[in-house]
Amino acid sequence: MARRKIVAGNWKMNKTPSEAKALVEMLAPLVKNDDVDVVYCVPAVDITTVVEAVKGSNVAVGAENISDKDKGAFTGEISGAMLADAGVKYVIIGHSERREYYKEDDAFLNAKVKKAFEYGLIPILCCGESLEQRELGQTIDWVRLQLKSDLKDIPAEQAATMVIAYEPIWAIGTGKVATTEQAQEVCKAIRDLIAEIYDTDTAEKIRIQYGGSVKGASAPEIFAQPDIDGGLIGGAALTEDFGKIVNYNK
Ligand code: 13P
Repeated sequence: MARRKIVAGNWKMNKTPSEAKALVEMLAPLVKNDDVDVVYCVPAVDITTVVEAVKGSNVAVGAENISDKDKGAFTGEISGAMLADAGVKYVIIGHSERREYYKEDDAFLNAKVKKAFEYGLIPILCCGESLEQRELGQTIDWVRLQLKSDLKDIPAEQAATMVIAYEPIWAIGTGKVATTEQAQEVCKAIRDLIAEIYDTDTAEKIRIQYGGSVKGASAPEIFAQPDIDGGLIGGAALTEDFGKIVNYNK
């Protein structure tokens, strides 16, 4: 069975609640595509507004982070229970910005992946190499290392439902998109790893996105690759171009 494409916007630290509402309204007529799952991953403070604004549409809401704890004295954290109750369906875990600027390591991210599943949320688990690692030829080894730790003790039934986003750090926000061959090569290596950790059935089901400077103009070629099941979109997710990315096949 063919995997369904999934295109998710990662809004990062952009849009106040009122701006978020306006963006959802602007994008509403542009992001209809029955062939694609569409997700807006939004700042925590925007979640309630965006959940309300997408009601009755084809768009699901995601969070950009989740606590590794259940509840209690963890000032500033947001729990899986809070996200689920607010209407969130997906959660980004391990974005390179969190790994780099907030020092989130693989053991911590593994705990977050487990928490997401405990609360019925679907992780969009990010991985990817730096420019230096790519130039040293370490890309695939590095991504395998990240994912092996991030997925530790996650059962196959859960892994099959999740989304992995391959985001080369050097392609994020730089306008420098990986070539389709580079993106496909790593996404295939990720699928092979999933088959190795679990089995081919799980590998066939898991959805793997590419992220890094995807635009409406580049999406059709990238999403046509056999192991690329959609994209995680930063900058372009805040513009009309997101509609073109979602409708890459029209
Ligand atoms: P850009 O699309 O802005 O390069 O960002 C990609 C990204 O980090 C999505 O998570």
